[in-house]
Amino acid sequence: MNDTLYINLLKKVLTDYHRNEFRVFNPINGNNLNWRLKVLKQIDKILNKKQYAICKFTEYNKEDRLEGKDWPTYADTMIGLKRLENIEYCFNEVIKDNIPGDFIETGVWRGGATIFMKALLKVSKIDNRTVWVADSFEGLPKPNEEKYNEDKGDQLYTFKELAISLETVQGNFRKYDLLDENIKFLKGWFKDTLPTAPINELAIIRLDGDLYESTMDGLINLYPKLSKGGFIIIDDWGALNSCKQAVLDYRTKNNISEEIRPIDWSGVFWRKEN
Ligand SMILES: C[S@@+](CC[C@H](N)C(=O)[O-])C[C@H]1O[C@@H](n2cnc3c(N)ncnc32)[C@H](O)[C@@H]1O
Repeated sequence: MNDTLYINLLKKVLTDYHRNEFRVFNPINGNNLNWRLKVLKQIDKILNKKQYAICKFTEYNKEDRLEGKDWPTYADTMIGLKRLENIEYCFNEVIKDNIPGDFIETGVWRGGATIFMKALLKVSKIDNRTVWVADSFEGLPKPNEEKYNEDKGDQLYTFKELAISLETVQGNFRKYDLLDENIKFLKGWFKDTLPTAPINELAIIRLDGDLYESTMDGLINLYPKLSKGGFIIIDDWGALNSCKQAVLDYRTKNNISEEIRPIDWSGVFWRKEN
């Protein structure tokens, strides 16, 4: 098969762009529910104990999926088509300009963005770059409110749908025939795994850990390893102020002035110049 056709098809499959789906009931704004949602939530709780769930067949909004605005039921990534295209753009620039280093995503959920990085390497027949897959594989940490005031009150750690096991993510790589010795998993909290990860050089860093703490841990431990000419991608800049603040603080502290370029309503990236 033609490589472009494969990569374009893969983007649609990874985002589940091509089909409608049964949506599991998931009231995101848990504190502001109307009475109907409150009742549904109670019923859902009882059903969940018996491993049932309330579902709705949904014709999802294609624009949302393009922009990575929804949490898909089956897709292997929630970042949407535009942010996958941004990975492809960064990849092409890195290869064209011979920028040395591995690729990493911190915060992988079901693994789709890292699966896509590996597919790009595979079709280009590159086998000397590792894709690092960093996650707790247990969801987000409870905010450390004493150290990181910006994460105060964040409830994402309570969302069990964000906790995807290591075995599931490995299985997802296998599903696409993309699991090999150049995929390395860093399991644990970023504050524990990233400082000692045996990574020498990076060409693409993708930060998608939502919290101030998770973003800052990625920046402090990985940005110094980013090659000149390499790319850093921030998934949650537009979606979460805490993430944006971590990036602003790190850039100010380290005198980083490269232009921040938008990808879509949430994602941004820049290319390291020095
Ligand atoms: C929004 S999801 C990532 C979405 C993913 N990039 C995709 O392609 O769909 C956030 C992920 O970050 C992980 N995470 C957040 N903070 C973390 C931390 N401090 N240590 C380890 N994992 C963390 C969660 O377990 C979750 O899998």
